[in-house]
Amino acid sequence: MRLLFLGDIVGRAGRQAVLEALPGLRRRYALDCVIINGENAAGGFGITEAILVELLEAGADAVTLGNHAFDQKEALVFIERHDRLLRPINYPAGTPGRGAALIKTAGGADVLVINAMGRIFMPELDDPFRAIDAELTACTLKQGADAIVIDFHAEATSEKQALGYFVDGRASAVIGTHTHAPTADDRVLPGGTAFISDVGMCGDYNSVLGMEIEEPINRFLTKIPRQRFEPASGPATLSGLAVDIDDKTGLARRCSALRMGPNLEQAAPAFWDN
Ligand SMILES: [Fe+2]
Ligand SMILES: [Fe+2]
Repeated sequence: MRLLFLGDIVGRAGRQAVLEALPGLRRRYALDCVIINGENAAGGFGITEAILVELLEAGADAVTLGNHAFDQKEALVFIERHDRLLRPINYPAGTPGRGAALIKTAGGADVLVINAMGRIFMPELDDPFRAIDAELTACTLKQGADAIVIDFHAEATSEKQALGYFVDGRASAVIGTHTHAPTADDRVLPGGTAFISDVGMCGDYNSVLGMEIEEPINRFLTKIPRQRFEPASGPATLSGLAVDIDDKTGLARRCSALRMGPNLEQAAPAFWDN
């Protein structure tokens, strides 16, 4: 199975780049499953139903979220209608939506997608380790799902790496999101789980985390908000992780960063080209 995960879409620039590139990427690499983090898709904050539908129609199999899940209040309602939209699983009981879902791909594979949020330098949610462990116990690789993909939305690289090794051999991939800056530690862990501490964002990197640079600088200098954060509007770079999953075991054979766009050095998963 060929899986592509794309990091946090930031604003219109990120959306446009993803919508333009995704159909071609699906064809070029014969992708079986595409998962996208959409927590910053609507003006940098949250997601609307119209944007979600656009992403699904462009070829996303599932869309994950994070600490900005409910910045657009309509998400509290429409998330109940969309079983391919996930918010962090460790929100308090009773939070609308779901944190794990078994997604059927176009090719007929069952992919368990789990979205969870870290707790270091983040809002205090329930324990993500135990929440994920419960899902992996209820739905195991090959018995319950052909592949298991975890979007771990967290700030601290230590927490992300610890989670990677905690589930190593039980999930196909653990992909870090939230920092909007890609790390260079993409690899397959000893037990067969593809891992990256942070996959980066789909947005204009000529920015501070995808936002126009003036206001972040102002806030660091003065501590007084002068205006809203606005997504940077230059051409966006896509950042993702490509994972080659063994159909027999559900574990990763190879993984590699994918970066496409004007801001960062390009990277492409060479193992899919031959
Ligand atoms: Fe984000
Ligand atoms: Fe986030």
